[in-house]
Amino acid sequence: MAINASVLILNGPNLNMLGVREPQIYGSLTLDDVEAMCQEHSQRLGLEVDFRQSNHEGELVTWIQQARSENDGIIINAGAYSHTSLAILDALILAELPVVEVHLSNIFKREPFRHHSHVTSVARGMICGFGPQGYVLGLDAMAQILNNRS
Ligand code: DQA
Repeated sequence: MAINASVLILNGPNLNMLGVREPQIYGSLTLDDVEAMCQEHSQRLGLEVDFRQSNHEGELVTWIQQARSENDGIIINAGAYSHTSLAILDALILAELPVVEVHLSNIFKREPFRHHSHVTSVARGMICGFGPQGYVLGLDAMAQILNNRS
């Protein structure tokens, strides 16, 4: 598959602490490890990946707004903002790009307040529970979406 498209992979709050943060839930890989997996897989798919993380809701919103003109799709693990942020949902709507939602953990096996994500309502689909491999699966899903588009 040679698609030649650009995908923004966004990570929300506390994901910079992967590897240290609750390893029994999120595993032992760091966010740099996850990025390396994504960069390697994206090359196979012919996708260019811009991989970012922020602990700040407004910064994530700004990056999503910029993606509207700079990227072809968004893969997002908004962390806890998935459950709370209408601002991120609104930004994803205005971006008018295909969105794939990813969570490392199976949010439906966890506390009830994690069962609802605002992102899901705008996403083409959601992958959760497969740890960092979920990002790779998300890239496969995005490649298929972008391939069908062109
Ligand atoms: C998470 C799940 C969220 O509920 C949590 O707040 C996170 C990480 C995940 O990847 O499993 O920060 O998005």
